[in-house]
Amino acid sequence: MANTGTRTQRIFNPRADEEISLLGERYRFMRHPSAQFMAYAAEGKRGTVYQVRSRSGVLYALKVFKSNFRNPALASQSRLGDTLQNLPGLRASNRRVITPNDPAVRDYAELQYAILMPWIAGYTWSDLLLLAEQSGMWLDTHEAVRICMDFTKVLAALEQNGIAHTDVAPANVMIDRASCKVDLLDLEDLYFPGAPPPAFVNGGVEGYRPRSVAAGETLWTPTADRYAGAILAAEILVLSHSDLAKQATAEGFFLSTEGSEPGDARYVMAKGYLKFFFPAFTEAFEKAWRAHSLADCPTLSDLSRAIAADAQILQVITLPIKVTLNGAFTLEPVDSPKHVPPQQPRPQPPHTTESSGYGLLIAAVFIILTILFLLIIANRK
Ligand SMILES: Nc1ncnc2c1ncn2[C@@H]1O[C@H](COP(=O)(O)OP(=O)(O)OP(=O)(O)O)[C@@H](O)[C@H]1O
Ligand SMILES: [Mg+2]
Repeated sequence: MANTGTRTQRIFNPRADEEISLLGERYRFMRHPSAQFMAYAAEGKRGTVYQVRSRSGVLYALKVFKSNFRNPALASQSRLGDTLQNLPGLRASNRRVITPNDPAVRDYAELQYAILMPWIAGYTWSDLLLLAEQSGMWLDTHEAVRICMDFTKVLAALEQNGIAHTDVAPANVMIDRASCKVDLLDLEDLYFPGAPPPAFVNGGVEGYRPRSVAAGETLWTPTADRYAGAILAAEILVLSHSDLAKQATAEGFFLSTEGSEPGDARYVMAKGYLKFFFPAFTEAFEKAWRAHSLADCPTLSDLSRAIAADAQILQVITLPIKVTLNGAFTLEPVDSPKHVPPQQPRPQPPHTTESSGYGLLIAAVFIILTILFLLIIANRK
């Protein structure tokens, strides 16, 4: 790191392989997997998260805040986080804060209130959206269902404890694709009953923000995650349809709320597929989509139960369903192999219920005409 002379004037700019003492232990800044000369770091709006490794070989995330986000509340908020460690998907709550009297802070002012927490391996939902947009990646149906179930379970467990994340958004959701397990990141603004609100209450991210926020509803509430949770859960399922996945962008799939252009168009595009395969979930999702307040949204437990019910039905169907209507479309993904390579094309059901309705109508007319034709022929004979 650049040393500008005195001990207190160093600028925090870690390089790959450099070591640092934090809370009495030595840590090494890891190399970026695709740029070996750089330290492995991810940039957020409030700070930078570095990957570091302890001498015993354990990986940690070191979150270093920008100056206007460094404050003593981080230390007290982090103690509240101790109560979370038995809940699923909150491994990042096992954290220690670098307090102002730590020698590392005397060397680098930037490290004041920095957080050392477990490194959570995987892809953020942002990463997966970007892969879908840029390389046509899409999820296997079983994988999407399992991720969606785990994601809603994590949020439901929080809500059942009167706690909310308050900033459910693609960059704050980490997914391990091998185990389909989900962890929440960015745990500085958690709502706890009775805890003081942060200096800046989250306003939510476009596409995941309930429209009631524009009308003055606050996200500093135990129900804060209901709308964003329903949207992101629906996106996870949408990404199991190869054509819909192609429409994803790094900002999400739905992009906006009900009543707005692209939001309405995206909703119509996805609804047929969701309703066909995940009817219970889609009913709950629709309720959230149309909700005028967070209280109108289904609870996260309801959402979690709905996708679990759909998953059970999908699992009991053991034979692939094939529905062919005059070659109009074929359905067979319910029993598709668990790990279809993402780029491999696969027959897809229709996007909308409208198109399946037309298919059935055409088939019915075709059958009636055929019967009439056969009757006429038989009468002539
Ligand atoms: N514990 C962790 N393990 C692995 N990666 C992490 C961890 N915490 C954060 N990250 C990575 O760093 C990124 C930014 O982290 P985080 O969301 O905490 O920062 P932020 O500045 O508060 O973000 P925001 O822009 O949402 O305000 C995440 O999207 C993720 O890629
Ligand atoms: Mg974040």
